[in-house]
Amino acid sequence: MKEQVEDIIIEEKEVIIDEIVKAKGLRGKVFVSYAPGRVNLIGEHTDYNMGFVMPCAIDLKTVALGRFTNHEGEISIESLNLREKIRVNFDNIKPTKTWVDYILGPIFLLKNKIGNLKGGLEIIIKGNVPLGGGLSSSASCEVAVSSLLNEMFNLKMEKIEIVRISKKAENEFVGVPCGIMDQMSSVFGKENHAMVIDCKTEEIEYVKFPQSWSVVICDSGVKHKLGESEYKKRQNECQQALKIIKERIKNNQIESLRDVDEDMLDILKRENEILWKRAKFVVEENKRVLTAKEAIKKEDKETIAKVFIQSHIGLQKEYEVSCEELDKLVEIAYDFKYTIGARMTGAGFGGNTVNIVEKGKEKEFAEFVKEKYKSKTNKKTEIRIVKISDGAKSFQMEI
Ligand code: GLA
Repeated sequence: MKEQVEDIIIEEKEVIIDEIVKAKGLRGKVFVSYAPGRVNLIGEHTDYNMGFVMPCAIDLKTVALGRFTNHEGEISIESLNLREKIRVNFDNIKPTKTWVDYILGPIFLLKNKIGNLKGGLEIIIKGNVPLGGGLSSSASCEVAVSSLLNEMFNLKMEKIEIVRISKKAENEFVGVPCGIMDQMSSVFGKENHAMVIDCKTEEIEYVKFPQSWSVVICDSGVKHKLGESEYKKRQNECQQALKIIKERIKNNQIESLRDVDEDMLDILKRENEILWKRAKFVVEENKRVLTAKEAIKKEDKETIAKVFIQSHIGLQKEYEVSCEELDKLVEIAYDFKYTIGARMTGAGFGGNTVNIVEKGKEKEFAEFVKEKYKSKTNKKTEIRIVKISDGAKSFQMEI
C-alpha cells in the first residue's frame, strides 16, 4: 500500500511565533527573530577550501523570541522543541556540550558589545529544521540568536557581522570547524533564488531559480556517528594535499585548493592516492558549481542532471562521505521520470538528499521515493517540499 505524503507541509513562521506566544502566555513587548535552514544545491565540502557553493535558504526555520526580565544577570533559555529550559549567569557563560551552546555561543561572543546587562534576559526557541540532518539547524539557531541580540540591544551589526559571529560561535564555542556556507545562506538567502557564494571573497551572486522546477528534500533517517570526526579529517586531508602541492611546485600564490588545477593534481596522484582523490573532488566540484550556475540560468535540465550525479559519485567514491542510504535515495530519485537532479547534501554520513523535480510532480515524486526506499531499505524517509526563502529577519512586537 502506498504511504500517504502527510509530512510535507511546512509550518509558517507566523504559526511558530504564535505557538511560542500561546505556550508561554507572553504579553507586552517581545523581540522576535527567525533564521532559515538551507539546502545546498551543489558545491559540497568546498567552502572550507575557499571555493564555490550554491545553497539556498529554505522555509524551514528557527524562531527565537526574547524579552527582558527583572532577574538580575540571569539568562533563561528554553527550547520548546526539546521541552528543556536552563538558566545561566550572564557573567559566567561556558560551553555545556549540549544544544544550549548554539544559543550561548552568540551571547558569549557578543558580551562585550552588549556591555552591562540591566536585569535579565529570556530567550525561547522553536524551529522546524530537522536536527542534524544536513540542513543547517545549528547555523539557523546561531543566526536567529545573533539577530535577536542585535535587535534587542540595538547592536547595529551589519549582516556580514551576524554571519561572522554565528560562524565563530560554531567554530569556537560549539567546537565544529565548519566553513562559511551555512551562516551565509541563513543570513543572505533570497526568495526564489539560489546563491552562488565565492567563499574566498564572500561575494554572492543570486541566480533566479526556474519557476518550473521544485526543490524536494529526502531524509535518509540516518545519522552516522562518524560524521563529525570524518569532517575534521577531510579538512586535514585537504590541508595536507595543499601543502604537498605547494612544496612541489614552489608556488606561493596557491592559497587553497581553489587555486589548484588538474596538472597540479597529477603531482599528488604520484605521491598519495587518498589525498589526490580528496583534492580532485574539490577541484572538480568547484567547476561543477560554476557549470550548474549557467545551467540554472538557461534552465538546462541535462546539465543539471549530469553535474548533480557527478557530484554525488564524487562524494561517494572520492571524498567518501556518502553512505548506503543516501546512495539509495539518489538512485531511486533518478528512476523517477520527472527528476532533474539528485544528490546528497550537506556534510554527509546520513542526513538528506536534495532533489530538483519538475514543478507539479513533487507529490508524485515523494510517494515514489517513499515507497521504493521502504521496500529497498526497510527504512522510512521524510520528504519535504521546500520553498526557497529569504534570509534572517528580526523585529519587535507588541502582544
Ligand atoms: C557542513 C558545514 C558546511 C560545509 C558542509 C559541506 O554543513 O557546516 O560549512 O562544509 O558541511 O559542504
